[in-house]
Amino acid sequence: MLFDLLVRNVTLPDGRANMDIAIAGGRIQAVEPAIAAEAGRVIDGEGFLAAPPFVDSHFHMDSTLSLGMPRLNLSGTLLEGIALWGELKPHLTVEAIKSRALDFCRLAIARGTLAIRSHVDICDDRLLAVDALLEVRDEMKPWLDLQLVAFPQDGYFRYARSAENLARALDKGVDVVGGIPHFERTMADGAASVRALCEIAADRGLMVDMHCDESDDPLSRHVESLAAETTRLGLQGRVTGSHLTSMHSMDDYYVSKLIPLMREAALNVVANPLINITLQGRHDGYPKRRGMTRVKELMAAGLNVACGHDCVMDPWYPLGSHDMLDVAHMGLHVGQMTGVDEMRAMFASVTGNGARTLGLDGYGLVPGAFGDLVLLQARDPIEALRLRAPRLFVVRRGRVIAATPKVETCLHLDGGMSRLDFTR
Ligand code: FE2
Repeated sequence: MLFDLLVRNVTLPDGRANMDIAIAGGRIQAVEPAIAAEAGRVIDGEGFLAAPPFVDSHFHMDSTLSLGMPRLNLSGTLLEGIALWGELKPHLTVEAIKSRALDFCRLAIARGTLAIRSHVDICDDRLLAVDALLEVRDEMKPWLDLQLVAFPQDGYFRYARSAENLARALDKGVDVVGGIPHFERTMADGAASVRALCEIAADRGLMVDMHCDESDDPLSRHVESLAAETTRLGLQGRVTGSHLTSMHSMDDYYVSKLIPLMREAALNVVANPLINITLQGRHDGYPKRRGMTRVKELMAAGLNVACGHDCVMDPWYPLGSHDMLDVAHMGLHVGQMTGVDEMRAMFASVTGNGARTLGLDGYGLVPGAFGDLVLLQARDPIEALRLRAPRLFVVRRGRVIAATPKVETCLHLDGGMSRLDFTR
């Protein structure tokens, strides 16, 4: 049989080595050792790691790459970031949002990320960002799966026109219902917003992904509400709680009640380590809290935990190049997850766990799945994390859509020359 693409001699994330991956018709046809066949293109994997593409489960594409517009966030705080976004909003245009988002998508593809869930602010009554990102979703479809969340960033009840705007955004084709209960005026309003938004999702047959308890408040209770509404409405597995940073600060006794409720609801959890570690704990002296949710404990309880990049060069975060290995690397440090299985689990948090959160079809390196993969200059997932390894090839539907030369350094010591890379 003639395949479109044959990637020879790779190591898989589960440790199987000397494997070949054959792709034809946009789908993986075989994953076996020494496939005896020809192909339109053959890549020598040199024993490096082939993984399914990275998945970013939480991003804000409407504000990305706007760093410095109209000014920099001098304090680096969440509140100054929100104020800055408010200053920028009146000056936004569809063209400018779209242009930045398309530039960003190119960064993501180069890093091997081929699926992104992006929240989009619907509290601008013009819905410019919605229109811009719907166009980006369609234009990028051949190369990248973009899922959009209708995000009432200024509060579903706290901003008077959110309900109307959210319905308009969903009517336009936005995929997922968002929310921000901890930003409502009261805890009761927050709970009511969770209830109302989950009911909208149930009525429309959509998924839910809320910014939920993105605070250091140990008494915030919106994760509990999200779990309860999910179970009440039979939305198990279709609802995601993003950030959940308050869980870092909660009393252990209460968490021992909360995690089983989350499990009952089959909530997906998304942590955003790069942003949580920089924005949370800002009101603390020392000791200073590390505001990432309880990733290790949630994984141990059997919940699906993914990680997101959240921001790249915007009012909230001045850094980043959209590298999901950066995200997992930060996450395993903050979560003290340096055990072998824990590091592998963090690699999964930016690959398979993300695919489950987004509900992606045809994901994975198995026959019948889409012919999508990334070849990394690393021998296994832990080395990929350690090195934030170069993406040698990014493949979509059996076609190479990004390539980076193998990184080697020439050392000139004692008058001689030797080559060095950092793999072991
Ligand atoms: Fe976010």
